[in-house]
Amino acid sequence: MGYGELKIRSYNAQIHRAGVEDLERRCEVGPAERVVLFTDTLGDPICRIRNSPMYKMLVAELRGELVGVIQGSIKIATVHKRTKDLAKLGYVLGLRIAPLYRRRGIGMKLVRELEEWFIANDVDYAYMATEKDNEASVNLFVKKLGYVEFRTPAILVRPVNFRTLRVSSKIEMAKLKTEDAEYLYRRFMSTSAEFFPDDIGNILRNKLSLGTWVAYSRGEPWKELISEGRVPNSWAMLSVWNSGELFKVRLEKAPLPCLIYAKMSRLIDKIFPCFQLPAIPDFFQPFGFYFIYGVYHEGPLSGKLVRSLCQFVHNMATKTKDCKAIVTEVGGDDTLRLHIPHWDSLSCPEDLWCIKSLKSEENTGSYELPKTPPPPASLFVDPREV
Ligand SMILES: CC(C)(COP(=O)(O)OP(=O)(O)OC[C@H]1O[C@@H](n2cnc3c(N)ncnc32)[C@H](O)[C@@H]1OP(=O)(O)O)[C@@H](O)C(=O)NCCC(=O)NCCS
Repeated sequence: MGYGELKIRSYNAQIHRAGVEDLERRCEVGPAERVVLFTDTLGDPICRIRNSPMYKMLVAELRGELVGVIQGSIKIATVHKRTKDLAKLGYVLGLRIAPLYRRRGIGMKLVRELEEWFIANDVDYAYMATEKDNEASVNLFVKKLGYVEFRTPAILVRPVNFRTLRVSSKIEMAKLKTEDAEYLYRRFMSTSAEFFPDDIGNILRNKLSLGTWVAYSRGEPWKELISEGRVPNSWAMLSVWNSGELFKVRLEKAPLPCLIYAKMSRLIDKIFPCFQLPAIPDFFQPFGFYFIYGVYHEGPLSGKLVRSLCQFVHNMATKTKDCKAIVTEVGGDDTLRLHIPHWDSLSCPEDLWCIKSLKSEENTGSYELPKTPPPPASLFVDPREV
C-alpha cells in the first residue's frame, strides 16, 4: 500500500460516526485467546476524550473506507522534574486498525500524526497505556516509536451485587463541598502524586464526578480541624466518577465454566442470600461502572478508612440500575491496593504505561521521566482518561 492512498483526517461526527462505531465493534482489545472487552460509546465515539481540556480524534481512510482511528487529549499535570514540576502531557488512546488492514503501517502513521498535533500544541511528553501482553501495541509504541515503559499501575475491579455492605459504626464519612475537595487535593496530592492534573477543579466540577468523600474515626472534630487548616491523625479521601454515563462495556469470549458460574452464582444469591455467595453480575450485557479516583490516605488507621469509603461507594452503586463494577487504578508501588477491596480474577495487576519525550533535553530540563528512580508512591489516574 502506498501512503499516497491513505488519508488521515480529523474526525467529523456527521461523516465518520457510524464508521468509527463499526470499527470499534470489530476491534477487540486484548489477546485473542482471552476474554475481551468491547466498548459501546452510546452514539458518541469521542466521549472518552470529550471532558479533557483539549482533544482530537483522527481517522484513517483508504479509498473511502474508514480503516483506523486514534484519539488524543492534552492537559497540564505534575511531573517531578528537577527544573519545574508541571508539564504538558499528551495522552494517546483508542488506537484501532480494522483487522484486514493491520501490519501495513497505518497504526504507526496515526500515532505520528497525533504526535504532530501534540508538538504543535507544545506538549512535553506523550504517554499511553496498554495491557502488558498486548504484543502488537507494545511493539508499535516501544520498538517502533521510541516510547519507554514507564509505570505499571494495577487496575482493581470489584463487582457490584445488589446487597449493601455494612460500614463500621466507628467510622464517620462526610461529603465535601467541591471547593473543599479541591483545597485538600491541592494541599495533599499536588506535590506527592505523579500526573496530578493542574485543572483538578474542572474534574471535580464535572457532572460525571459524583462527589468527594472523607472518612475519619467517629468523634473526630473534622469541621473544626479543617477550619483551622488541620486534619485528624488518620483520615482518607476519594472521589467517584460515573463512567457509565459516558460509555458501556461488555465482556465477550468468556470460557464456558465462567459463564455458567456467573449465572449460577446470581441465581443462588437471589434465592439464598444468607449464603453470602459473591455473585458475579452479568458482565456479558453492556454495563456501566463507577471509577474511584484521587484516593488519598494518611495515618495509622487510614487503610481501614479507605476500605470503608470503598464499601460506601459500593453501596451507592447498588442503587444505580446498570452500575455493575467499581474500578480504580493505583500506582505500582502503592500500598493502597491492599486496602481497596477487589477481585483478583477481574483485576489487572500490571497495566503498562509508556512515555516519550517530545522535546529535546535542552527544552525539558535535565530530567528524563523514564529514568526517574524511584517512582513516587502515588499516581493520580485522571478519570477523564479511563
Ligand atoms: C495495535 C494495532 C493498533 C497495530 O496497528 P497496525 O496498523 O497493525 O500497526 P503497524 O502496521 O503500524 O505496525 C507497526 C509495528 O508495530 C508492531 N506490530 C504491529 N502489529 C503487531 C503484531 N500483531 N504482532 C507483533 N508486532 C506488531 C510491529 O513492530 C510493526 O512493525 P513491522 O510490521 O515492521 O514489524 C492493531 O493491531 C489493533 O488495532 N489492535 C487492536 C486494538 C488494540 O489493541 N489497540 C491498542 C490499544 S493501546
